[in-house]
Amino acid sequence: MSTADTLTLRRPDDFHLHVRDGQALAAVVPFSAARFARALVMPNLRPPVRTAAEALAYRDRILAVLPAGTQFTPLMSLYLTDTTAPEEVERARARGGILGFKLYPAGATTHSDAGVTDIRRVDGVLERLQETGLALQVHGEVTDARIDVFDREARFIDTVLAPLAERFPRLRIVFEHITTRAAVEFVLGARAGIAATVTPQHLLMNRNALFAGGLRPHHYCLPVLKSEADREALCAAVRSGSPRLFLGTDSAPHERATKESACGCAGIFSAHAGLELYAEAFEAIGALDRLEAFAAHHGADFYGLPRNAGQVRLVKQEWAVPSTYPFGDGTIVALRAGERIAWRMAAVEGA
Ligand code: NCD
Ligand code: ZN
Repeated sequence: MSTADTLTLRRPDDFHLHVRDGQALAAVVPFSAARFARALVMPNLRPPVRTAAEALAYRDRILAVLPAGTQFTPLMSLYLTDTTAPEEVERARARGGILGFKLYPAGATTHSDAGVTDIRRVDGVLERLQETGLALQVHGEVTDARIDVFDREARFIDTVLAPLAERFPRLRIVFEHITTRAAVEFVLGARAGIAATVTPQHLLMNRNALFAGGLRPHHYCLPVLKSEADREALCAAVRSGSPRLFLGTDSAPHERATKESACGCAGIFSAHAGLELYAEAFEAIGALDRLEAFAAHHGADFYGLPRNAGQVRLVKQEWAVPSTYPFGDGTIVALRAGERIAWRMAAVEGA
């Protein structure tokens, strides 16, 4: 039940999350576990998580840092490379909890240098994915340095994604962290079996946020923030309630000094408010009644997972985000650091 000031939702899932490894894990995993019942953990570690065995070992390291009493299930994705063996798909399917493979075009983003150099090199893997029903999670940007950085997602649709969806007509594809009107139009008009995640930053901010009062490295992520027209298209799409769109924060922590640098890393940390930021975004577009399905139904349904038991309660009560959070030996500067967020997590119930 929800009133103007409280919002009770089925416990949600985050279908795109970076939690890193080692010391960093313990710093960031509790934020996600305090909100989400499950998260699809991205495999772009160094070295990347390439095999089912590596993914399960990584999952165990994540489970080991969960605070006592939290119910949280990491779901895994394997990092696709030019040399991934097609048999790895069957190995992944045989072990539960691995939802698919992540396609990073080589050089597209943080820790993507081991990624795929030409999509046709992985046709054997894609065929097995199509047969088994595991999904392909896609970072959808071309890497050609001659293409304007703001056009790389749209160009990827035309040159890679649309042809791929046709060549493998039953392949299940999640177009991750979509940022443009072109991506919205592609996903909403695509064949069955194609869906997309949407981040809070791309619903809340446009590219002006990169330059508001000066250069703002903590607003830099990939795909980069886009125009206001693109942001509006994303907002309209989630307001429509399309079951093809679901929550994936892309929370991507980087130690402060690596972002506040002459060559700052891409990635926005949002796990500290991974649901609250969406509540703000949905409220701003008059779509709070659409939040539960976006956060807790569409992704689970797409992946054929049961919807979660239990509920979370948010209250409309401003809180101040700390200027930093601890992160291993350093700190992270979270989205809205030193500013306020309109919604607050009040409770996780019955999980
Ligand atoms: C991500 C990261 O830091 O791992 N960065 C980002 O800007 N989103 C990688 C990614 O998802 O592209
Ligand atoms: Zn990501």
